[in-house]
Amino acid sequence: MKKHYMFTPGPTMVPAEVLMAQAAPMIHHRTPQFSAILREVTDWLKELFGTGQEVFTIAGSGTAAMEAAVANTCSPGEKAICAVGGKFGERWAELCEAFGCDVKAVQLEWGKSLTVEQAKAALADVPDARVFCLTQSETSTGALTDVEAIAALTRRTDTLLLVDAITAVGIHPVRMDGWGLDVVVSGSQKGCMMPPGLAFIAVSPRSWEVIEQCTSPRYYLDLRAMRESLAKTTTPFTAPVSLIRALHKALEMIREEGLENVYARHARLAEATRAAMKAVGLTLLADSPVNGVTAVRAPAGIDTDEMTRKMRDDYGVTIAGGQAHLKGRIFRIGHMGYVSEDDLLVAIAAVERALKELGYEFQSGSGLAAAQAVLFGG
Ligand SMILES: Cc1ncc(COP(=O)(O)O)c(C=O)c1O
Repeated sequence: MKKHYMFTPGPTMVPAEVLMAQAAPMIHHRTPQFSAILREVTDWLKELFGTGQEVFTIAGSGTAAMEAAVANTCSPGEKAICAVGGKFGERWAELCEAFGCDVKAVQLEWGKSLTVEQAKAALADVPDARVFCLTQSETSTGALTDVEAIAALTRRTDTLLLVDAITAVGIHPVRMDGWGLDVVVSGSQKGCMMPPGLAFIAVSPRSWEVIEQCTSPRYYLDLRAMRESLAKTTTPFTAPVSLIRALHKALEMIREEGLENVYARHARLAEATRAAMKAVGLTLLADSPVNGVTAVRAPAGIDTDEMTRKMRDDYGVTIAGGQAHLKGRIFRIGHMGYVSEDDLLVAIAAVERALKELGYEFQSGSGLAAAQAVLFGG
């Protein structure tokens, strides 16, 4: 018998209750029954985003919300500052370029986070930037950016701060209104414990002026249409009814646990994973690590593509390898969403087993012991 576990940084494991909610018989999206679900889901998402603004739900993966952010705020020829320290920072820059922006990329070594000083310098360099694009939790490297500190700079300027919080929402606190973030995006298959297929976006009051005047072409991802529809508690196009029903259940579970407890659980899982990896003699890629995924440098001579394949095919435990130039050189343990303390021990045990079988020498069980000490004390 083989049981399958997913410790990937999205998609993530989905609770059975959520899958059952998704399988409920179809209802029409233009009905009071669906509108009531949409209203509740939207109000609950607002808690996760830390905002009193509406959160729009789009049928699409997280990138659809990133594209909506750029298409609605960046006009051709305008300037965009993008912090590029991984695959998803790169995505912001590519999107801004696709919409005809003049991109100033602040290139970071992968694993490093943008500092306040670097952000200050970029704003001084491009004072007329329309947008500043950041990745709160860079999933490809496991590096966390202090968006609160950078928002303290941008909110004193006319530059809008666009934040990819795709692996931050429901994992790290995101306080959109309190910190002064202008556009925040996320996706369903991460902290929300959902299958892929939904993207979320919220915008600040001051962003609407820019959105109205933006000259970039948009249709499906037009935020003005989403706002108009949501004012009538509906969606501009056919809503992904089943996914929104699943989301309703997932958010109900998150609220039941309590958002602060959810953040604390992710912090504990992350701390335990870091302690385990250090105990087996490995180092983390990120200087300032996130709580949803831990990126670990492979020991010399171990190809992480082989390691992750072995874990998935032989043990039924899926983790992620590295992307781009880090392919084969790092492995990433996802611990976001529907992951308990006991689940995490399965991941650590499987990593230890793979490392051992691939010839890395360390004391068996040392990672597990370190993780257990963090999780359960003693
Ligand atoms: C930080 C971050 N940004 C953007 C994305 C892209 O989201 P999607 O693949 O859902 O379009 C991901 C997905 O892995 C992500 O982790």
